[in-house]
Amino acid sequence: MNDQIKIFSPATVANVACGFDVLGFCLDKIGDGMTIKKVKEPGIRITKIHGCELPYEPEKNVAGVSALAMLEALKPGCGFEIEMHKGIKPGSGIGSSAASAAGSVFGMNELLGRPLNKTELTKFAMKGEALASQSEHADNLAPAIFGGFTLVRNVNPLDIVRVPTPHDLYATILFPQIEVKTAEARAILPKQVPLKKAIQQWANVGSLVHALHTSDYNLLRRSLKDVIIEPYRKQLIPEYDRIKTLAREAGALGCSISGSGPSVFALCKGKHAAERVRERFETVYAGSDIDFQTLVSSINTEGIRIL
Ligand code: HSE
Repeated sequence: MNDQIKIFSPATVANVACGFDVLGFCLDKIGDGMTIKKVKEPGIRITKIHGCELPYEPEKNVAGVSALAMLEALKPGCGFEIEMHKGIKPGSGIGSSAASAAGSVFGMNELLGRPLNKTELTKFAMKGEALASQSEHADNLAPAIFGGFTLVRNVNPLDIVRVPTPHDLYATILFPQIEVKTAEARAILPKQVPLKKAIQQWANVGSLVHALHTSDYNLLRRSLKDVIIEPYRKQLIPEYDRIKTLAREAGALGCSISGSGPSVFALCKGKHAAERVRERFETVYAGSDIDFQTLVSSINTEGIRIL
């Protein structure tokens, strides 16, 4: 068996408008590269971090924390070295910490002969994710590990439901280069929700899941709405209302905040529509001092993969 593995750990979009902390999907055009090495010396060592500045101490690094949790539980009698090539900027809202936290445990599991299933891997990855966001949620981790769309029905015990991906669905991402910390974007949310809003939200979650099962794009369009979280978080994203208007005008099925932001995603039927939305997104911050990136991606139904 190989003692070293290289993987691609993809970016993900959590919440998907109405599904705060439960829904997510996986992107295929952007992610982190990671190399995991099995070594004799016990413990976890982070040996290289490319692409951004993150702590090398495993207990302060999300990839290290999830790896330590898995090592502690399995006691495999060996250690691991982790090299991280960050393609996803931390604080971008497309699952940077989830890609790191999931990547380390996925790679270790492969090197150990796959003793754990994907749900068990997600559980260990949640320990790393919790370091970044101060809360244990799996709506970025589950799509990174399982691929496609996922719904986290319950966190403890963890229960992940895979939801089908309609064939012609594409995502457009607008990433303004400002940092929004997940913990801060969670701190501004209300602790209580009016029943009327909750009814709207769970109706939309149900119909969104049904639309994904039946490839009903019109129902998708009607369901991609967030009446609970977006009103609070949109203030963190410059020009948010305009972004939504542009996406709608360009034919997007829906547009909302990706995870805790600042990235915004639009879901579109067909690549052409997604490219049209991208062209509009390119205009939002042109002439301002906000740097930005845009991308069009199909939905990655495989999740993390070995390179
Ligand atoms: N569901 C999470 C949030 C995703 O919106 O806070 C970001 O980790």
